[in-house]
Amino acid sequence: MTTSHLPGDPGRPLAEPVDAPPTDAPPLPETTLAELRELAGRYPQPRSALLPMLHLVQSVQGCVTSEGIGACADLLGLSAAEVSGVATFYTMYKRRPMGTHHVGVCTNTLCAVMGGDEIFQRLCAHLDVGNDETSADGAISLEHIECNAACDYAPVMTVNWELFDGQTPDSAIEVVDRLRRGEPVQATRGATITSWREAERVLAGFEDGLVDEGPAAGEATLAGLRIAAERGWQAPPFPDADRTPTAEPVEAPSTGSGTGTETDPRGAAAQADTARAQSETEVAESPADVEGGGSDD
Ligand code: FES
Repeated sequence: MTTSHLPGDPGRPLAEPVDAPPTDAPPLPETTLAELRELAGRYPQPRSALLPMLHLVQSVQGCVTSEGIGACADLLGLSAAEVSGVATFYTMYKRRPMGTHHVGVCTNTLCAVMGGDEIFQRLCAHLDVGNDETSADGAISLEHIECNAACDYAPVMTVNWELFDGQTPDSAIEVVDRLRRGEPVQATRGATITSWREAERVLAGFEDGLVDEGPAAGEATLAGLRIAAERGWQAPPFPDADRTPTAEPVEAPSTGSGTGTETDPRGAAAQADTARAQSETEVAESPADVEGGGSDD
């Protein structure tokens, strides 16, 4: 596969230009459309379901297709441009079909200096791909990713968003080779690896029953808690702990004129939140809004 590189940086190939979304993906089945409607019904404001709905589309079609964008837009009463804007903003949404597995290598600062850059370069060479490309056998899509908030285990890699801690170039290659051979692979702090599409279905909100499989936290994460418990350490009280948004007298929100006399800006924020929650609850109680995907502005 031909790749280009950053000037003066032969080790980090650039991805080819983004292809147009594929048009040959199988159409979304009725079962998926029903699940998209189910997701929209889980939220007081149906449009809040857009992110999980896009994950569900990916789990079925392998990426966010034009058909998927249209389906989400129709169900939520949004324009295709609004849905497309979301799908192209977040890097977890893919506009090209993904391989069986997504492998992410953290090349943010700490992981990079701890070996993440070398891992990424070795995987590029081993798989003969550049960033955001898929190996010729369709098994692995490789992407360099930003900090996973797992810096205490740097350098880290993800497979279908499950964490693999303290990797080396050799261990990373072993993981991808096992995945390509279809052998079982266990995340360092997570479940046995399934596939990117199955992981996307979980992200959409449909559990696979594996949430409690594998270790959840590692020693490096728990070390501080353990030492604090052994030595009886406690966090100092928050200096402003006795001041809460409701500690100062604030009148109840007005139901019509909006002429409340609130003077504390934190109290005003609390009132705004309360009013919004009440509004969303009222919308949720209207079946037409949930099922029909009416405007929620
Ligand atoms: S820099 Fe890699 S997990 Fe934070």
